[in-house]
Amino acid sequence: MNSPSVLTFEGVSYRYPDGSRGLEGCSLSLRQGSRTVVLGPNGAGKTTFFLHCNGLIRPSAGRVLMGGVPLDYGRAALCQLRSRVGLVFQNPDAQLFSASVREDVSFGPVNLGLDRSTVKARVEEALEAVGMAAFADKPVHNLSYGQKKRVCIAGVLAMRPSVMILDEPTAGLDVRMQQDLLAVLERLHAEGMTIVMATHDMDLAYAWAEEVCILDQGALATQCPVEAFPDQAELLERLGFGIPHVARLHRQLAARGVLMGSDVPRDFEGLSRLLEEMSAF
Ligand SMILES: Nc1ncnc2c1ncn2[C@@H]1O[C@H](COP(=O)(O)OP(=O)(O)OP(=O)(O)O)[C@@H](O)[C@H]1O
Ligand SMILES: [Mg+2]
Repeated sequence: MNSPSVLTFEGVSYRYPDGSRGLEGCSLSLRQGSRTVVLGPNGAGKTTFFLHCNGLIRPSAGRVLMGGVPLDYGRAALCQLRSRVGLVFQNPDAQLFSASVREDVSFGPVNLGLDRSTVKARVEEALEAVGMAAFADKPVHNLSYGQKKRVCIAGVLAMRPSVMILDEPTAGLDVRMQQDLLAVLERLHAEGMTIVMATHDMDLAYAWAEEVCILDQGALATQCPVEAFPDQAELLERLGFGIPHVARLHRQLAARGVLMGSDVPRDFEGLSRLLEEMSAF
């Protein structure tokens, strides 16, 4: 809990041009090098929060700070901010705009002013990481939804940001690709990247995150380390989510005396291992 804050929201409110409330007095901090999950029902403000993180929209009130310094919304500063904070959009069609996959993924690195061979190497590496190398010359509009999402992720990876924000990245991906994506994120996190993800998948959130932020009606309802996440049962219930399945099952088994000890697994593999260990006694 002690690493410094990379992005801080101080009482951020945002109104869309039609008057709709996007955020309302939202205050929270994302820690450097952390894996944070942002949860909240539809319309809670997750996407609006993310759009503020790399300056795509500006608070109507309050402020956003990076490394303790308020964001500068000048053109050059915004370019720099966007190379440091990469955002993978919820809807891939809102992110992709080039004719081919290669062109799209090259766009960011080219804009950074990198030389051709560096751009080429980064694009190849990023496409490889998301399993899309074979599609480099394919027109973007001919890709499936899941393939488009992978290309969006590659486009952000190619920028090598220090903070990567993913808005519901696993929605629409097949199981294999979800696992591959989590493995890529694991590697990036091990290399020091701060990773923030919105998801509606409670089990994924519990297994993956170190920290959990729950948004409700444009504000932060709670922020807690993942270990304390199942303790938010009342709030989660009120928002229409349950606690993660593994946590529920673990609690039931512990209440019946089947499981003891302080180890609390956060995924089914961990729970299953624990049960096998217990049955070995
Ligand atoms: N372009 C827009 N114009 C007007 N209102 C908007 C716009 N985008 C979002 N809103 C409103 O802002 C609020 C927050 O929306 P946001 O997209 O941030 O929610 P979300 O938590 O990402 O939801 P979801 O889980 O559905 O993705 C909602 O009430 C929504 O209707
Ligand atoms: Mg959203």
